[in-house]
Amino acid sequence: MKILKEDIKPLFSEEEIQLRVKEVAREIDLYYKDEEVYVICVLKGSVMFTVDLVKSLTVPIKMEFIRLSSYGSSTTTTGKVHAVDISLPDLNDKHVLVIEDIVDTGLTAKFLLDFINNNFHTKTTKFCSLLDKKCFRRTEIEPDYVGFNIDNKFVIGYGLDYDGQFRNMPYIGYVEIE
Ligand code: IMP
Ligand code: MG
Repeated sequence: MKILKEDIKPLFSEEEIQLRVKEVAREIDLYYKDEEVYVICVLKGSVMFTVDLVKSLTVPIKMEFIRLSSYGSSTTTTGKVHAVDISLPDLNDKHVLVIEDIVDTGLTAKFLLDFINNNFHTKTTKFCSLLDKKCFRRTEIEPDYVGFNIDNKFVIGYGLDYDGQFRNMPYIGYVEIE
């Protein structure tokens, strides 16, 4: 499938996203009070969201980056999560906040949260996703913080890609999947 610019329909504007990101940041600030948080950005998709979110946080944070992949170049999940780079510092006794772009089946999030909880005794492990697409969920995973809920749509922009493209769109759009 090839996605053309003219096939992309707007879903969340740049302004809506920025406003919602600030609201989510306020929720997160309230929870951690002034305790340090290890924010884990799951590359590549959550890069835009993470960067905007941390700029609005007032709690002290440290940023870590890991890279997972599951989609390949289609619009449906392969069901297999591939850890491209999952090197993390010692997270024992730390507050850990995982940041994702989207939860679909939940397999990626489950893989990562299991990995963290099997390797560390964190103080808390929380999960924040900009988008929550519940219709294809295959795990019991629920994000603790969500930007927007979406239905059965393939979305792109603001970090989300199709075959590596469109990550730099400042808004989120969708394409009809047949
Ligand atoms: P899951 O493992 O099925 O929950 O899928 C999570 C990953 O699939 C996300 O981190 C995205 O990289 C990708 N993904 C899921 N839905 C979409 C979408 O609508 N557009 C772009 N990428 C998506
Ligand atoms: Mg992702």
